[in-house]
Amino acid sequence: MYPDDGRLSVLEGLTRLAPIRRQVNEADNQIKQEKERGMNELDFSGKQVLVVGGSSGIGNGIAHAFRGKGARVAVCGTRASAADYSPDDGSYLEGLDYFQLDVSKPQAVEAFKPPFEKLDVLVLAQGAVIYRRGEFEMEGFRKVLEVNLMSLMACATKFHDMLSASKGSLIIVSSTAAYHSTMGNPAYNASKTGAVGLTRTLGEAWAENSIRVNGIAPGLVDTKMTKATTANPKRLEGALGRIPLKRLGTPADMAGAALFLASPLASYIIGQTIVVDGGLIL
Ligand SMILES: NC(=O)c1ccc[n+]([C@@H]2O[C@H](COP(=O)([O-])OP(=O)(O)OC[C@H]3O[C@@H](n4cnc5c(N)ncnc54)[C@H](OP(=O)(O)O)[C@@H]3O)[C@@H](O)[C@H]2O)c1
Repeated sequence: MYPDDGRLSVLEGLTRLAPIRRQVNEADNQIKQEKERGMNELDFSGKQVLVVGGSSGIGNGIAHAFRGKGARVAVCGTRASAADYSPDDGSYLEGLDYFQLDVSKPQAVEAFKPPFEKLDVLVLAQGAVIYRRGEFEMEGFRKVLEVNLMSLMACATKFHDMLSASKGSLIIVSSTAAYHSTMGNPAYNASKTGAVGLTRTLGEAWAENSIRVNGIAPGLVDTKMTKATTANPKRLEGALGRIPLKRLGTPADMAGAALFLASPLASYIIGQTIVVDGGLIL
């Protein structure tokens, strides 16, 4: 116990401040060293990224964000070639390596020969939805589950060894639909709820293989998948009214979270799905 003496209190204060001062000095030194070496945690130069579902929309935005940070980026979609896509549908394929891969066919995933020898980041952004109550039919339900859930596991296991070798990152795109009921879309809802669970469970299981598995749950983003809502003025107005930020999300908004999760800034985060929704489900 210190007596209530001014000088001793100052001494005590200085003693307590010492570790903080040490931390500040260490951080200053680190900043100086990183500046000298030109380092930046969001620099993906020399890294190979694959975005399944990177041919349009959110995946395409994520692909360009990684490219903008120096990565070599390959993207997959369902069509035969890059020339079959149009910017009108949210597809910008310049600067990306395009490959056709229909993930609704498990054999196609198995047979897919990746055009690279190492893989640092795998983003699984593929997704499908069936409107007009098609998901209440078993055929539709199975179709959506195959693309939105089964193919996640197929792609994840296919690239497990490459990701482990590079101590890489797997990012699964689910949806805020995982956190509430989705009127008219039981398969979409169940698949996205499954994706959040898979992210958690692979996160735990593959930590020992040096793979960090995390996810992103977008809110409402203007892509070809959501045109039924965004191209209908009345529905759009209703949707915007429910988003505290009063605007739709953009693929670039989703990309910010993906860059963070794949970077060393998230080195101690595993199994988490970050909700990126402008406040929609708060
Ligand atoms: N937009 C939103 O508001 C929103 C909200 C929450 C979650 N999400 C999720 O975000 C992800 C991206 O969706 P998006 O909104 O960007 O829609 P999108 O523009 O339609 O993109 C969907 C992507 O998945 C690919 N895909 C669909 N079926 C496939 C299959 N059988 N094999 C391989 N690839 C397939 C598409 O390829 P093609 O280009 O060849 O069709 C496309 O690249 C999806 O998982 C979606 O569920 C979207």
